[in-house]
Amino acid sequence: MTKTFRSLAAVAGTLALVTGTLLVTPAVGAAEEDAATRIAKGKAIAYGRTQGNCLACHMIEDGESPGNLGPPLIAMKARYPDRDKLRAQIWDPTAANPESAMVPFGKYQVLTEKEIDYLTDYIWSL
Ligand code: HEC
Repeated sequence: MTKTFRSLAAVAGTLALVTGTLLVTPAVGAAEEDAATRIAKGKAIAYGRTQGNCLACHMIEDGESPGNLGPPLIAMKARYPDRDKLRAQIWDPTAANPESAMVPFGKYQVLTEKEIDYLTDYIWSL
């Protein structure tokens, strides 16, 4: 009887370990990416001609052949001390200016929420 109990306890212990590992592993995998990675991903989206294509209208850093329909994206932290306001501006520029020529990237689901987060991290770093 004691023996059975012990082996049951052992099995339960193993199960708890396995369950613990299963619960912990995804959390580790989804760990926050560091700032440099997020900014690099955001830059790729901003420069990508098929995604953000922000260069079509904005001068950004060393981006090639920028358009000038929109203002140069520089000193963004000084102009947008609040990152959420910058994100909202990218998500839906028509909220601030109904006549805006800029695509409401979030509202029209041109970019995913995650992509807009990366993009905001990048633009905010300029
Ligand atoms: C079709 C042209 C166009 C494209 C493409 C475009 N924008 Fe704009 N953007 C504008 C214009 C025009 C403005 C000026 C404000 C307005 O009219 O909404 C602007 C304003 C902004 C502002 C506010 C700047 C400030 O000084 O307050 C930000 C930030 C911005 N754009 C980011 C982006 C990002 C990021 C992308 C790419 C995902 C992008 N824009 C793509 C035209 C564009």
